[in-house]
Parts: sequence; structure tokens; C-alpha cells
Amino acid sequence: MLAEELFALFKRRGVLWPSAEIYGGAQGLYDYGPSGLALKRKVEEAWVGWFLGLSSDYYLIDPAELLPEAVVRASGHLENFADLEVVCEKCHTASRADALLEEHGVTNAEGLRVEEVSALLAEKAIPCPRCGERALSVPRPFNLMFSVEFGAVGRERAYLRPETAQGSYLSFARMWEVGRKQLPLGLAVVGKAFRNEIAPRQVLFRMREFTQAELQIFFDPESFSVPLEKVKDLSLPVLRAEARARGETEATGTAPSDLVAAGLPAFYVYHLAQEFRFFTRVLRYPADRLRFLEKNEKERAFYNRIHFDLEGDLPSLGGFRELGALHYRGDYDLGRHSQGSGTDLSVTTATGRHVLPHVLELTFGVDRNVWALGDLHLSREGPGTPGEEEARTVWKLPAHLAPTPVAVLPLMRKEHGPTAEALALSFREAGIPATVGLTASIGKRYAREDELGTPFCLTVDATTLADGTVTVRDRDTRKQERRPMEGLPEHLRPAFFLPRPWKTA
Ligand code: GAP
Repeated sequence: MLAEELFALFKRRGVLWPSAEIYGGAQGLYDYGPSGLALKRKVEEAWVGWFLGLSSDYYLIDPAELLPEAVVRASGHLENFADLEVVCEKCHTASRADALLEEHGVTNAEGLRVEEVSALLAEKAIPCPRCGERALSVPRPFNLMFSVEFGAVGRERAYLRPETAQGSYLSFARMWEVGRKQLPLGLAVVGKAFRNEIAPRQVLFRMREFTQAELQIFFDPESFSVPLEKVKDLSLPVLRAEARARGETEATGTAPSDLVAAGLPAFYVYHLAQEFRFFTRVLRYPADRLRFLEKNEKERAFYNRIHFDLEGDLPSLGGFRELGALHYRGDYDLGRHSQGSGTDLSVTTATGRHVLPHVLELTFGVDRNVWALGDLHLSREGPGTPGEEEARTVWKLPAHLAPTPVAVLPLMRKEHGPTAEALALSFREAGIPATVGLTASIGKRYAREDELGTPFCLTVDATTLADGTVTVRDRDTRKQERRPMEGLPEHLRPAFFLPRPWKTA
């Protein structure tokens, strides 16, 4: 599906739409409607369930979204969190220099130095993408953080956090005291991050306000042991930096033990594997649409020692796009905040070792994955079984993520409506959200629920009133079977269980 088609469907069904739409929209800002929000929350819940399930010493916290200036100075964001911007001197459109170069055939432009970018822009005589004039300024670094006046007199500055991670570093000392005083200690945050992106685009891919789910694992590099044998049978699609340098573009299925033998730390490989399991088992992305792309030294963020992006191959955006990542940040973060705050963040572990903990960061873009769930699970299908001969658009979301698990559809509003309402209530009482669809023909109601990804439609008809059974329609196969209403919530419940990391199946 094209990006415009997917976005049109999302708007039409109230999944999400441009923010301030009645004013023509605000670039890089989007509002979620009820079904989009329900999906987003389930994705967040699934992420928390999976990654906090890796250890009983991993916790979810909710730190402030505003960061005092001293924090972003210490973290390096004030100095380094910038993209190269070029501005058209004719129409004043700002563009990201690396994105322009990549559109004109330069690979890996993200890691180039300002002089290299400048030279390439001139050599390729790249025009303004908006007005077509060859009038681009020299590239200059543009800091992506939003700053705000802080306090009544406005003399202090604060910044909207550019990543949720910082709150975990700021909370480490407190959580060390509160927790069991042992490493590894994990702090997860799910919440908004803000970046004044130069050229927001591709809907949920480059937003100015977006949701991240990030887990910071603080550990002692001498003693971070992981159960690598639990993931030994996986084949991880990996494209290493040196292979990219040789011009290779395809990921190779690689066993975790081979990645360790090639020099990656076992703790790093284990968490790559857990990310892969999450993407394939919880989000149910096909394994052959995923890859781990290793960033080289120039491309990595200033704080990273090892960096693989987890990318999904998204037809709507024309290829592989970053959906999450695994960053080994070393002792950069606690080191910088120790210096910046004057508080020594090193700790003494149970074994008596005095150590400044290192950080392994698992990062996940919630909005990007809402988009990817649309891209990878929505499709058009031809006519189905007799009685459902229409072609349809169907969103085959995993049932455990579906915004509406169950829709109850009375065949006739007046005659069957009250029974339908009572059945929906019995689901809600059992903790399973259920709606009642009353308007339009039954075919149109199925079509609507298919587009919204509702896995089960229950139809109430004359037979229901006679014998207490309903038809249960499976979204994916369109097959219908009659079942008693009695006990139906319990019968369907297992379909909505969230997969957990400790289950091997
Ligand atoms: N704490 C590390 C960090 O923030 P990042 O690669 O800059 O790393 C992490 O961002 C994730 O956040 C990305 O993998 C992506 O999924 C998401 N993300 C980053 N910038 C985004 C944007 N402008 N719009 C939507 N999602 C974004």
C-alpha cells in the first residue's frame, strides 16, 4: 500500500490524523483517535510486558519531560544533537542535507562531515526540492531540541527531552537506593520525546513530537551474564558495517553464537535476539522483512560504542526503515552526569566492586511501529466465501494488539439490538473490550471491522434468540461458526494473551 493510501485509511477510520487539521495541519504533529490510541497503548503494554519480563530488576518509571539546561549540557545534546540544514535562498525551504544527498544517490550520507556534505552538494549541483532552484545555502548544524523559558522571570532555560533515556540516567542514583543495589538494573520509560526536525515527513516516521519506549540497562561490563543458550536457535538477519563497506546490501541469517565469535559481546547479542523475538512474536512482523543494520563509527550517535538499527522493509516507504535500535553507550551517560551534577554515580556492587555502570539501551519508536503494523499487516484481498463475495481491505493485526478485540453485530437493530448489547457487556465485564455495530448492512459492518483489524465479529440473529448461539466470524479466514453465547468470552480469551519472553513457543 502506498503511504498516501495508508494514511487516508487511517484518517477515514479515525486511527490518526494531522494535528490542528482545521488550521491546515502542523508539520510533524499528529493526533491519535480512539482506535489508533487503543493500538498504541497495546503496543506500549506489549513492549513493557516483554522487556520488563527479562529481569525482576527492571522497572518502569515516569520522569519529567522537561530537562534543565545543565542536564542537556552534560549529556552533550546542547553541543552535538544537530542535523545539517540547508536553506533555499529563493523559497526559504529548509532541508536536511544528508536526506537530500541520499535522494541524489549518495549512500550513508548520515555520517559525513560538514565539509564533505558541502562538497557533495556543490559537485552534484543539487536543487531545492521545493522550487527546483539551484540556490541552496552552505550546510550548517541545526540543534534539534526545543527550548522553553523556565520559571516566572524566564531567565532559566529548559528543554523538551529529545529522548526519554535522559530521565533514566537522572533517576539512576535514586533507583539504586530504592532498589536491590545490584547490577544489572534496568529503567524503562515510555513517553514523549520532542525534536524540531528540519524536514518532518513520511507521517509517523519523522515527527516533531513522538513516543519512544526505551529501556536503559545499567551493568558492570565485567559481570553481565546472559542466558545466550535460550536464543541459540535463532537466525538473526544481520548486515555488518564491514559488509556494507564492501558494498553488500543483503542481511545474512547469523546464529547468535557466530556473532559472539565475531567479537560482539554476548550481552549485546542476547538483547539483539530478544528484540528480534519481540518483533517477530509480538508484533508478528515477517522475519524476512526485518534486518539489523550495523552503523559504522561515523554514522553512530556521539554516545554509542556499538549500534545496530532494527529496520523493517516497508512497502509504503519504499524499503527498509529504522523501527528501533540497540545501543551500547558504555559509561558515557553516567560519566557525563557525574561530571555535570557533581554527584558520583559510581556504585559498589554486592561483590565489592566499585564501578561506574555501563549502559545498554534498547530503544523503540512507538509511532513508527504503529505505522509499520499498518504497512505490514494491512492488505487488499479478493472476494471471499459465498455470501461475502466483496473484495476487501483487511488489517490482520495480531489479535492481542487489536484496538477492538470483539464487535457484536445485531442483524436487525430493533429485534437483535438488546441481546447484542448484553453480549458486548458480558465481554467487557470479563475485561475484553467489545463494541456493538448497529449501522449499515451486515456486509458493510464486516468491511469496517476488517479495516479496523477487529479479529472477531459476533453476529446476533433470529437463531440467537431461539437457541442462544451466535455466529463467530474469523477476520482472517472469513469463516463463520455458530457457538453458544454462554462462555464465549472465556473461549476467545486466549487469543488476546500477550506473548511473554520466557515462553519458548
Ligand atoms: N535514546 C536513543 C535515541 O533516541 P534515536 O535513534 O534517535 O535514539 C530512537 O531514536 C527511536 O526513536 C528510533 O529508532 C525511532 O524509532 C524513534 N524516532 C526517532 N526520531 C523520530 C522521529 N522524528 N519521529 C518518530 N520516531 C522517531
